[in-house]
Amino acid sequence: MRFNVILASNFDSVKRLIVFSGAGISAESGIQTFRDAGGLWENYKVEEVATHEAFSRSPELVLEFYNLRRRAIAKVEPNDAHLHLRKLEDKFDVTVITQNIDNLHERAGSSRVLHLHGEITKARGAQGKHEIEDIGYTDIKLGDKATNGSQLRPHIVWFGEDVPEYENAMNIISTANILIVVGTSLNVYPAAGLIHYAPLEAEKYLVDPNILAGDSLQNFEIISKPAGTGIPQLVQRLLG
Ligand code: APR
Repeated sequence: MRFNVILASNFDSVKRLIVFSGAGISAESGIQTFRDAGGLWENYKVEEVATHEAFSRSPELVLEFYNLRRRAIAKVEPNDAHLHLRKLEDKFDVTVITQNIDNLHERAGSSRVLHLHGEITKARGAQGKHEIEDIGYTDIKLGDKATNGSQLRPHIVWFGEDVPEYENAMNIISTANILIVVGTSLNVYPAAGLIHYAPLEAEKYLVDPNILAGDSLQNFEIISKPAGTGIPQLVQRLLG
């Protein structure tokens, strides 16, 4: 009985730390963000490459857009921000909720990563009940079939599609003792709304070189630095 009591008290004392990341955390690995100068949406129109309608209208253009991004991700490495977030697991119960479709958090060693907008290394059937298939970094071509026989498509949440992991993410973030938001313009909903589900009393940090202290985010400590600098410094502080 005593052993259980000790375990329980230890378990309760481990703080839950939630990371909410966006494209900015992968910028220093060499992956383009979306809305910065030179970002993806400067060269592509969302409605031409990132909607279900676009896929129905021009499947080869959409498949090639994700093939290019998948090939780029295969060539880069996690940066100091991803690597330091993994270190937080030595002291905290960490869950990373990411809007990113790259696998850099996993490759840095984070053990619990929730992808809100899907994963570039996974694919599924475009029609019907589908399984999620690991494709690694291989291209998807028109005519490639999923296990259910329909055209293979990236396992990505396109604009206008449901975000199946949203409720799960909301429940997780509502239990945060510490919230770290990094590298997101907080432009895209429902994902961006998640940060408001963190408990009022949670410690909240935001790491982004372009968001200045005093910006509208209540109760956040704003760290106006690139993720590769700001996250390691914050992690050192949190690990004590
Ligand atoms: N370190 C930290 N933050 C950075 C860095 C960096 N080195 N470089 C840029 N940023 C910040 C920018 O200031 C911006 O706030 O990263 C953010 C990138 O914003 P977006 O390009 O809008 O990316 P994101 O917020 O992840 O977009 C959300 O939009 O297009 C959809 O599905 C896509 O998941 C994506 C969603």
